[in-house]
Amino acid sequence: MKYLKNLFLLAMLIMGLAISVLAISPGNEEAKKVKNRFLSERVVVTCDKYPNVCHIKGSAGSDCCVKKCVNLSTDGSNCGRCGKKCSYGKICCEGKCVNPKSNEKHCGKCGNRCNAESSCIYGMCSYA
Ligand SMILES: *[C@@H]1O[C@H](CO)[C@@H](O)[C@H](O)[C@H]1NC(C)=O
Repeated sequence: MKYLKNLFLLAMLIMGLAISVLAISPGNEEAKKVKNRFLSERVVVTCDKYPNVCHIKGSAGSDCCVKKCVNLSTDGSNCGRCGKKCSYGKICCEGKCVNPKSNEKHCGKCGNRCNAESSCIYGMCSYA
């Protein structure tokens, strides 16, 4: 009895799914066109054409380099300007490639400034 009841529920579920699939997928040409236009526009929304996409929340940065949103002040491959790559061992801080092992303003990481009495040695502000 329980088994039959489950079978019945399953049949109802399948019928329900079939009906909703039919309802969603219209044979209607106009609806198909709208759907296709929507999908193709999504693909075309790149920052080279629409710079605002880089300003939305969650974007990697507000700058646009070759269709990609980047942060020019911190991106090691686009440091200060598009395509400017920092050489090995350097990091991008405030749009400049710096050596974090010895840079007094960006010692070890961006913005870690050593104070007047210390100097940046191997990426640490050290008192000599
Ligand atoms: C870019 O990076 C800097 C430094 O981390 C940060 O202050 C700034 O908010 C970033 N900009 C964007 C748009 O994420």
